[in-house]
Amino acid sequence: MKVAIFGYGTVGSGVFDVLMENHDIIAKRVGFPVDVKYVLDLREFPGNPVEPYLTHDVNQILDDPEVEIVVEVMGGIHPAYEFTKRALETGRSVCTSNKELVAKHGAEFIALAKEKNINFLFEASVGGGIPVIRQLIRSITADEVMEVCGILNGTTNYMMTEMREKGVTFEEALADAQAKGFAERNPAADIEGHDACRKIAILTSLAYAKQVDYEDIYTEGIVAISDIDVAYATEMKRGIKLLGQSYMKDGKVYAVVAPRMIGEENPLYPVKGVYNAILIRGNMLEDVMCYGRGAGKLPTASAVVSDVIDAAKHRNTNIPILWDAEKLVLGSKEEMETRFFVRVALADAEKARSLFPIEKELKLPEYENAEIAFVTGVMSEKAFEEAQAKVQVLSRIRYEA
Ligand code: HSE
Repeated sequence: MKVAIFGYGTVGSGVFDVLMENHDIIAKRVGFPVDVKYVLDLREFPGNPVEPYLTHDVNQILDDPEVEIVVEVMGGIHPAYEFTKRALETGRSVCTSNKELVAKHGAEFIALAKEKNINFLFEASVGGGIPVIRQLIRSITADEVMEVCGILNGTTNYMMTEMREKGVTFEEALADAQAKGFAERNPAADIEGHDACRKIAILTSLAYAKQVDYEDIYTEGIVAISDIDVAYATEMKRGIKLLGQSYMKDGKVYAVVAPRMIGEENPLYPVKGVYNAILIRGNMLEDVMCYGRGAGKLPTASAVVSDVIDAAKHRNTNIPILWDAEKLVLGSKEEMETRFFVRVALADAEKARSLFPIEKELKLPEYENAEIAFVTGVMSEKAFEEAQAKVQVLSRIRYEA
């Protein structure tokens, strides 16, 4: 069976390496050899083992009837959308790590693959090397999903861990994550939460079998988190994690991406560095957690190749995935409830005490002459916004009980 890889970047070169290095073990598992025939990229790679496979012409691949599987790891929507569509229309299964493409066009490509009796698979689009999508759609099939909550971005988790444990600055931590190949081409997608947002949109669409538009998900990144916030969190034996969350409450589905202060009892608390973890709560099963490397060349490539193997084993058989194009209308952000960690200047302390339902005040000797910090009781986002509009808040982070 012949495979074409679209894109020879971090993930594409990893897919090439995994298919080459594990060629024999993959052949054994599939029942026949799975060989790379082409790699599509605009660049030249002189002296690189990929050279004999390289083409700059997508038509050479799509006109070759031998190619049965396309691996799309180019990233971005264009031309990934057009190439994926053509590959599926011409009867090739597509395996992708492209979360933006999956979040936006997943329902359309799943329907097209079903019509053509082939497969559109996207394990690597969420959680890097973690087989979370398989867990959700093929293992947790007896339950109604009540909640999905995860550390879905390796770059930001790596940065928060380095800042806490090594005392490095935000910029140093980001440069290090980029150098290690964890970050997106535009790291704003990581630090502003958009990458995690696309991933929770995909997981929520799969959990509820309808289209969740990522534009509808309230999203905050880690850009406003300071070393002072980290110091308070450490004092409270808490960690700050960028969490993507969706849950069902009173028949409505809510979804949100935001940094949260979580305690040691939370199973996501010990997840450090580039590792991701996703907690899935079923109405019968209760909690299941998947943990592993959420970014990086070979872990992500391993997940892509696991899809290639699935596609090869399911030649001419569509693996059913329930994700309808019908839009899922999410519950509003204003209705969501949580506690908040808040800091205000000392001059605003009395005002803040009258505005917020304060559960406990916190003191750090370095800052007590300049500000107060406190944790509120559970309040709605709307009530918090109303109080916040009346006093200057230095920082606020959602705080899980
Ligand atoms: N930039 C992403 C991350 C890569 O850091 O998690 C994997 O999707």
